[in-house]
Amino acid sequence: MTPTSRANFGSRIGAILASAGSAVGLGNIWRFPTQTGENGGAAFILVYILCVLLMGMPVMISEFIIGRRGRANTAAAYRHLAPGTRWIWVGRLGVLTGFLILSYYAVVAGWTVEYTVASLLSRFQGMSGSGEFTQYFNRFVADPVMPVVYTVFFLVLTHVVIAQGVVKGIEKSSKVFMPLFFLLLLVLVGCALTMPGAGEAMRFLFTPDFSKIDSGVVLAAMGQAFFSLSLGMGCLCTYASYFNRNTRLGQTALSVGVIDTFVAIMAGLMIFPAVFSVEGVGVDAGPSLLFITLPSVLQSAFGSLPLLGYLFSLLFYVLLILATLTSTISLHEVVTAYLAEEFGLSRHRAAVLVTAGCSLLGTLCALSMGLLKPYTVCGMTLFDLFDFVTAKLMLPIGAFFISLFVGWKLERNVIAEELTNYGTLRFRLLRPFTLLLRYVVPVLIVLIFLNELGAGIF
Ligand code: PHE
Repeated sequence: MTPTSRANFGSRIGAILASAGSAVGLGNIWRFPTQTGENGGAAFILVYILCVLLMGMPVMISEFIIGRRGRANTAAAYRHLAPGTRWIWVGRLGVLTGFLILSYYAVVAGWTVEYTVASLLSRFQGMSGSGEFTQYFNRFVADPVMPVVYTVFFLVLTHVVIAQGVVKGIEKSSKVFMPLFFLLLLVLVGCALTMPGAGEAMRFLFTPDFSKIDSGVVLAAMGQAFFSLSLGMGCLCTYASYFNRNTRLGQTALSVGVIDTFVAIMAGLMIFPAVFSVEGVGVDAGPSLLFITLPSVLQSAFGSLPLLGYLFSLLFYVLLILATLTSTISLHEVVTAYLAEEFGLSRHRAAVLVTAGCSLLGTLCALSMGLLKPYTVCGMTLFDLFDFVTAKLMLPIGAFFISLFVGWKLERNVIAEELTNYGTLRFRLLRPFTLLLRYVVPVLIVLIFLNELGAGIF
């Protein structure tokens, strides 16, 4: 595609919302509380925020630079910027990572559909206590049929939006639903904070116990930061190829970082009061955490107002689906754009291949909670393996090379041009940005890996 024929996000706010739409998703609402619970609470959150600031922000700006300058799918962007070199493999690794993430992410996305249907049919009515919710969740994920159906359904839903094209599909849906989602999330946080366990939850989330920070916690926080910000695999790089000349890269990155972190903390404030209020749920319940506590938050909030509770919970689940959809779209788009542009396929055909491939892998991941549970790799089910390998290995490795590329390979004046929108505005943080990229980000990633290796976890 020539640069001029490439699609563009229509407005500045469109670019921010589309990127934020990619960033905000199950990573914030489902994975962040899960990781926080498994890694000791406040100490994890503190390390997480440091990772967002020191590594997430510079890497996000780097992806924006590569994408807008390269004006192509994430692999070809490297080819345009560094022709004839092996840097293209960073892009290709990203595409593979995106494909794997989408495959298991769609499974959790499928769970949100099940919970929407369940609340539509009032299945949670009359249930109380964590026992029943836990049982409901466990029975559902072990089922050999419905989780697979929902996984494939979600991928097809994503496919339909992708088929509409970038601007119409992605930009429009983000603009309408994101703000509404924030609003409902705030209402639920308000309700959760009145639950009896709220005090304990606040202590868990905000009083760090530094002795809990070990190499595993730091690796988890770094992986979560990249995952939640959609970094390290060329997703925001692909989106930036649709940015126009007026999009301010620094400002966009800052907005996305703030929105994403805010939503994650809000999700924590929604989930953990329920964890400490309902007996029998541990903070380290793992992937089931959101799905056991959320219905109980909703119930405690609206228990005495059944009709209102019914409508609210339905609306909330629908918006959760939409927030998830804006993330699956962005994952799908990375692979679709790559296949279409690199292999000369029509967008339609490329999208069909991605949807079919992910449906296949997604089915295996969905079944790995039930039928295929006995088959494990390094003690992990396929679902856990995909989560581990992508978030804790592939994303940091991708981010490592992205920072090296922009820090050391790309010409200074190219970076300056992109950050100042071709000289039309000032970017005051050029020096700290370069320093972080050249030294801090790559060194931290290597240190965190070495530390984890040393701890003998692998
Ligand atoms: N950031 C998304 C979320 O938090 C997930 C995602 C990861 C999307 C990587 C794109 C790329 O839900």
